Amino acid sequence: MGGNLDEFKRERERLQAQYQDFTGVSGKRFLSLDAAVYREGVLPAKVKELMGLTGSIVLRCDDCINYHIVRCREEGVTSEEFDEAVSIALIVGGSITIPHIRRAVDAWLEMDSGEESGANDPALHSDNAPVFFDELLKRVTEIVENSGSAEAKLQAICEILRYSVPYYDWVGFYIEDSENPRTLYLGPYAGEPTEHSVIPFGRGICGRVAESGETLVIQDVTKEDNYLSCSVNVKSEIVLPIKRGGNFIAQLDIDSHAESPFSEADVEFLTKVCEAVEPLL
Ligand code: SME
Repeated sequence: MGGNLDEFKRERERLQAQYQDFTGVSGKRFLSLDAAVYREGVLPAKVKELMGLTGSIVLRCDDCINYHIVRCREEGVTSEEFDEAVSIALIVGGSITIPHIRRAVDAWLEMDSGEESGANDPALHSDNAPVFFDELLKRVTEIVENSGSAEAKLQAICEILRYSVPYYDWVGFYIEDSENPRTLYLGPYAGEPTEHSVIPFGRGICGRVAESGETLVIQDVTKEDNYLSCSVNVKSEIVLPIKRGGNFIAQLDIDSHAESPFSEADVEFLTKVCEAVEPLL
């Protein structure tokens, strides 16, 4: 994420927390209604954020626009989707919205270019990482507890992980096939399609984790003999088992285009994600 939006997000969170502490029942009720309205429902959270963005542009509230831009990115909105939502605002609000749209596009592009710095995102390093991952874990838990199908929730979790952590380039679940024991099939995922939709136990990093039931952190995939490549861009990978009653049932697989990006904070966070999603599998 770009510097200005990072700063905006931090300042907004500070002000929001201060207001939340300060306000009484009426303010708190309004804020919790606001959070509930944007939660995944019949409409996906992503669509709701785009609607929030369109409404904010029409009402010409720059802070609201920036907030929804950050949320749209976290929900995996593409530039084309962003552009269509902005076009509706332009039609509804007319030319008076154009100065706000110019700034919105600038913020969107700034976030895109910031993303290239990937693993160097200050929000994710050293002291900040636990706070960042705690917040992300809360969002994952919220998705698990929402209404909707298990598959849609797992899909939303893949997307939120992929778009929130700059060096998570492919995020997916492999699940043990109940009709084909010792075989994994690819469940929900976010990222480029892969040819490895079925993996036998023992093959590649995924197959090894299925066999051993232990997490594998591979900081440099070129050093691996037993490895199934999904793309030449992948430099590292982390695979964590998901267990029920001590038995392996599935796994979370994350590929990265960065070399050695995974820290102990990733392992701790992703282990908790695996525990949180177990009921969905
Ligand atoms: N690289 C994995 C295969 C799955 S893809 O990363 C999506 C492996 O070696 O098992």
